[in-house]
Parts: sequence; structure tokens; C-alpha cells
Amino acid sequence: MTDCVPLIAGNWKMNGTRASALELTRGLVAGLRERPPGGGSQWLVCPPFVHLPLVEACLREATPEDAGALLALGAQNLAATAGGALTGEVSASMLRDAGCTWVILGHSERRTLLGETDAQVLAKLQRAQEAGLHSIVCVGETEAQREAQRTVPVIEAQLEALLPALQGASPGGLGATEVVIAYEPIWAIGTGRSATAELAQEVHAAIRRWLGTQGLEARATRILYGGSVKAANAAQLLAMPDIDGVLVGGASLSVGEFLGIGGLSSRP
Ligand code: PGA
Repeated sequence: MTDCVPLIAGNWKMNGTRASALELTRGLVAGLRERPPGGGSQWLVCPPFVHLPLVEACLREATPEDAGALLALGAQNLAATAGGALTGEVSASMLRDAGCTWVILGHSERRTLLGETDAQVLAKLQRAQEAGLHSIVCVGETEAQREAQRTVPVIEAQLEALLPALQGASPGGLGATEVVIAYEPIWAIGTGRSATAELAQEVHAAIRRWLGTQGLEARATRILYGGSVKAANAAQLLAMPDIDGVLVGGASLSVGEFLGIGGLSSRP
């Protein structure tokens, strides 16, 4: 059992209009205000780039002294280079300037559909660290890899590629930047087929063992589960000793579902 504060992170993916982004943020802020003191979990949303300014302004209005106090703001990707002539890309320092404190990196949709390589994910993680952004780095196996019993070696290889950055990270949020690992089995993403809590726990324990063998701070590193998490299955997943939070796609687009994942309810 780790004593990490659970992280509940919403990945809005390529969804929403300005109006729906605002409505969702306002609903989440209202629900999070009702949290019992001391509140338990840390909450994060990662809207599409174009909605970041809008969501940031809404969060700043809610808690002017600290815009991320109730709900932190993150992006879903960043450029592998620090700046310059790169049409269509967004740099880590731009995200910091826009009020982000987090970024999701190496999501399987980017790896498999957009051809993002391990080397690119490493470069992006390094850019995030240089800019002072906390990162959620995604790893996970395909269904075929699981059936071939290659889940753990596949994940270890994805993590090994990140070692140069992981060695410079400060797990547990101490110091400048934190790297959180998200285990997201590809067959469970957006399919409604979540991994069972026991199966996810097994992989999380393997990831924590691997971190230990590399001399990294295994117990202080937060490891999230992602893949068809919803209010109905979150408590079981979060009860597992090595599951330190969740990365939520579809269910993070609904105020009630997302709050329900952290055991909260939306205000009527
Ligand atoms: P899902 O997506 O919750 O819709 O399965 C999770 C993710 O891709 O991060």
C-alpha cells in the first residue's frame, strides 16, 4: 500500500465546444467545493488545446488565490522541441504560460493512430520537465500482446525508453516536476471493457517492482489506471493497493460520472 494522494484525471480528448467545456468546468468546480475538508483526492482536467484559456479563466475565477486549488489544468500533448518553426505544434512553455501544470504524454491513441514513438515520448517528457510541467505518461499493451502473455515486458520496454527522464524526476510531487505513470491497456480504452481491479493491480505491482529495480522511488510514484473507468467501477479499482488514481476518458465528459469516480456527487 502506498500513501500517495490519489489523482483523478480527466482526459477530454477531442471533444466539446466552448459552451460545453465551460458548463463541464463549472459543474465540476461546484461539486468539488462540496468536498469534505482535507478532501482526499487531487483532481485534474485535460481539455483540448483550444479550450485551455476558457477553462483556465473559469478556474481562476473560482479560486483566484490558486487557480488549480480545486481542479488542476493539463494538456493532452506537447511538442517534442522547445520552440521555433514548427507549424501546428504547441510547446511546453506555452502550456505553462497558458496556466497548465500538467500534461498527458504517450497516450496510446497518439502512439498507435499517430505513430508517436518511444523516443518522441521521451523527448516530450524532457520538454515538460524543463518547463516545470508535471506529466502523466501512458503505457499499455494491445489485446494481442496480452494474449501472448507479453503485457509486462511490453510495458517495461515502454518505461525503459523513458529512463533518462524518470531518473531526473521527483516522484511524489516533491521538488519541481512529478512523473505519474498511467497503465492503460489498449483493449480497455473506450471499449467499455475495463480491466478487472485484480488484473490492473497485478500490472501496477509489476510496474512498481520495475521502478524499484531501476533504483527509482517506487513507493512514492503514483501509478494510475485508465481504460473504461466510470463511477460504477472506480471504487473497486481505487481500493487496490497499487492503484493511486485513475485516468478517465469518456466518463470525464459528464459532471456526475466524473465526480462519482471520486465518490462525490454533482450539485443539483
Ligand atoms: P476511456 O479512455 O475512459 O474512455 O476508456 C481512457 C483514456 O484513454 O485515457
